[in-house]
Amino acid sequence: MHAQHSRKTDFLIIGSGIAGLSFALKVAPFGKVLMITKSNEDESNTKYAQGGIAAVTVESDSFEKHIHDTLVAGDGLCDEAVVRTVISEAPERVKELIDWGARFDRRADGSYDLGKEGGHSEHRILHHKDNTGFEIERAMLEQVRNHPNIEILDHHFAVEIITQHHLGMYINSSTPGIECYGVYALNLRTGKTDSILARITLMATGGAGNVYASTTNPKIATGDGVAMVYRAKGRVENMEFIQFHPTALYEPGVQPSFLITEAMRGFGAILRNQEGEDFMPRYDHRASLAPRDIVARAIDNEMKQRGEEFVYLDCRHLDPTALQAHFPTIFEKCKSIGIDIRTDMIPVVPSCHYMCGGIKTDLQAKTSIQNLLAAGECSSTGLHGGNRLASNSLLEALVYGHRAAQTAIESFSLVEFRTDIPDWDIKGTADPEEMVLITQSLRELQAIMSSYVGIVRSNIRLQRALDRLLILNRETENLYRRTTLSPALCELRNLILVGYLIIKSAMQRKESRGLHYSLDFPRATEKASV
Ligand code: FAD
Ligand code: SIN
Repeated sequence: MHAQHSRKTDFLIIGSGIAGLSFALKVAPFGKVLMITKSNEDESNTKYAQGGIAAVTVESDSFEKHIHDTLVAGDGLCDEAVVRTVISEAPERVKELIDWGARFDRRADGSYDLGKEGGHSEHRILHHKDNTGFEIERAMLEQVRNHPNIEILDHHFAVEIITQHHLGMYINSSTPGIECYGVYALNLRTGKTDSILARITLMATGGAGNVYASTTNPKIATGDGVAMVYRAKGRVENMEFIQFHPTALYEPGVQPSFLITEAMRGFGAILRNQEGEDFMPRYDHRASLAPRDIVARAIDNEMKQRGEEFVYLDCRHLDPTALQAHFPTIFEKCKSIGIDIRTDMIPVVPSCHYMCGGIKTDLQAKTSIQNLLAAGECSSTGLHGGNRLASNSLLEALVYGHRAAQTAIESFSLVEFRTDIPDWDIKGTADPEEMVLITQSLRELQAIMSSYVGIVRSNIRLQRALDRLLILNRETENLYRRTTLSPALCELRNLILVGYLIIKSAMQRKESRGLHYSLDFPRATEKASV
């Protein structure tokens, strides 16, 4: 065992996206804050958010309308008390974001230029051009960097949360009073795994898009938080509800997939099949602005029936100057591959985008593990139900970052540090013989999930996926036991577990609901694709 060191902090945050950053800024006046993040400080799903953040900010809109739209999108599975709380707290949280320095686009008269996206009955999305997340991450990181109580450790990979299990106690999912004492984190600069002890730990590790072969999520989105909590016997739920964004740029072989924001459809862009038909009215009266699950399934069906690899998003009828001004990032990206969005249609395909389920939390952001809170995409608060309404996730992360901070501030001084945490055990491990054992398994996992557990599922597909995934799991656990820790190995292991949780939850849901569509349980009102 080599020398390792442990650190102590009042508040430990895993992840530097919007959820972790907002929590950090709120708890910092009360104690020492340590934020660890596995890549560069700003690398996160947050940084790539395009469309914006949903909140009621004008009189023509109302909380009731936003609540209604969220409940409809969630297909009967939202927790209404959570929906009401998040939506009614939204204006206050957005105002704080603006006070922290985030800029949102305004019209000439000074009012906010509110966008509209699928499933919203009103224009209510605050945005910064088509790179809202970049602007939010920039503003919040600037505040965090300037705060004397906050330290960020970048390139630190959280491997496991520390619980009584590490003190030799047998724990299963019905053990009462599981406690979190901090995390074991791999310092990617030294290669050492250190223990970081905390009174309160916040899990803010974001999503898991990389469990599929095609995703809009950056490389960091590997479901680490969900996997760590599940392994620690914490409660995880609703994992079958994986959201596929309808319109990622069709660019075979390029990962992550570049997103074409839904705000473009809110701006008037229309989906067409390769024959040029505006096909969405055949599927839903809201046409191209129906909720995401419906649009993604419709596109999937069109592609499968017609044997085509993509559909088109058509902006050619829109004011070219306004189009370019509103969507400069998309304009430039498309231009770089020879597409002029003012005159050419954009080839698009659905791509894995968002994890609606995750670590189960209550309204105070508490998980089933004591002193462990969760916020943002890694959590399952009850807001999204079976399908997240567009631009509600940045909002959820802000509201729960705030609620988690309140919980932490109230309780942290009552929590004692443990003094008996063992060092990370590296006995019996050696450097990997061949990286291909990891990289090929990841490709296999992604192929299994994309082929059998995608937009349309069935009992036989799920069973086949499970059978194959269990083989990968056995091989990877073997490898893990005898191999030096690396991010690639930990991420593979986490993604396999996330895949397992998605499949198991999907198998248990004996209906088609929200984002989970099964050919074995067709919905009377929808066309099934094959
Ligand atoms: P993230 O922002 O993903 O941050 C997670 C952090 O955890 C990262 O810093 C990561 O490095 C770190 N981390 C992960 N695992 C570990 C580990 N093991 N150890 C240490 N650190 C770790 N939502 C909207 O509401 N509106 C939008 O317009 C919108 N557009 C989007 C566009 C794209 C392309 C994508 C991908 C998502 C979009 N979303 C949008 C979703 C939204 O961006 C995310 O749900 C949200 O940003 C998640 O924030 P978070 O803080 O929970 O996680
Ligand atoms: C988008 O801009 O289309 C993404 C919005 C979201 O994921 O909420």
